[in-house]
Amino acid sequence: MSVRRLAPKELQPATFAFTPENLAFAQKQIAQYPAGRQASAVIAILWRAQEQHAGWVSEAAIRYVADMLGMPYIRVLEVATFYTQFQLQPVGKKAHIQVCGTTPCMLRGAGDIIDVCQHRIHHDPFHLSDDGDFSWEEVECLGACVNAPMAMIWSDTYEDLTKESFNKLIDGFAAGMPPKPGSQIGRQFAAPEGGARTLIGGGAMTRPAIELDAPKEPALADGDAKKPTKSASDRESPAPKAPAADATKENTPSGSGSKKAPKK
Ligand code: FES
Repeated sequence: MSVRRLAPKELQPATFAFTPENLAFAQKQIAQYPAGRQASAVIAILWRAQEQHAGWVSEAAIRYVADMLGMPYIRVLEVATFYTQFQLQPVGKKAHIQVCGTTPCMLRGAGDIIDVCQHRIHHDPFHLSDDGDFSWEEVECLGACVNAPMAMIWSDTYEDLTKESFNKLIDGFAAGMPPKPGSQIGRQFAAPEGGARTLIGGGAMTRPAIELDAPKEPALADGDAKKPTKSASDRESPAPKAPAADATKENTPSGSGSKKAPKK
């Protein structure tokens, strides 16, 4: 994770304004919320501003979006600097690669993916490649941990990456033919590698092999199932003892104060 600051002044454009098409999109977003709640559209509109401006959000764009939504500038700046989906400085023209470096991805080979970025793009994150086509950064979990390691490029995620498949991915973007997003090993969504392992064989659940070796219990007949059983309170409570014949007398002390029965 890196410190997220706006790009230096010399890289900032003086102004920003939506194209008519994006302005219509923004107005449609705002109309989805009740009056006075238009700030709820901030992420969608900021995202569109980023798409319009070569993949990164400028200070002018932040001010423009804030004015449009009637929000203080600092509030939109907070959104833009909090979410790593927003880029705050120029990124690669063809791809800005966000490599997940959180524990599951790191355990499954994110280090190899970062290594490729360092060798093919730039040693340090947030630097453009020599041709300006690529940039990269390490981010925290992007929510595809089951298919780790993974990377996000623009709006898509590429999962189950290896050094080889990641190199092919970069080649694809460089050639203007990015591969299909999702698992790069053919996994269906987040299903187990190699296909389904449950609910197969005609829909019946198959018992795990370990249970097949367990000693088999005799099958219950209908009659067995209907036999009355003791209730839990009967099973767990000790049976009550019969009261002693004359426990009061046995336990009565014989000292002073006790009355002896009169002799007959
Ligand atoms: S840890 Fe990488 S996507 Fe969650």
